[in-house]
Amino acid sequence: MQQAFLRHDGLQCGYCTPGQVCSAVGVLDELRHGQPSHVTDDVAADPEPTDDEIRERMSGNLCRCGAYAGILAAVREVVEA
Ligand code: FES
Repeated sequence: MQQAFLRHDGLQCGYCTPGQVCSAVGVLDELRHGQPSHVTDDVAADPEPTDDEIRERMSGNLCRCGAYAGILAAVREVVEA
C-alpha cells in the first residue's frame, strides 16, 4: 500500500499519510470480509470495490493538500491486485 501511494502521488506534505495508509488497509480488510458500507446497494451480497465504496470507506480521513485522486488510485491498484 505504501508503494502504491508513492506510485500514484497519493501524498503531498505527508501529514495525513500514515492515517490514510492505515485506513486503506482497513478498507481492504472490510472488502475481503464482505462488510457493507453506507453506499452498498445490496447488503446481502459481497460489496464491489467501486470508487464510491472506496471513497465512503476512506471518508473519515481529511487531506488538506487534496491528494484524494492519488489516494483513490493507490487504493484501487491494491484492491485490484
Ligand atoms: S498530503 Fe498533506 S494533508 Fe494529506
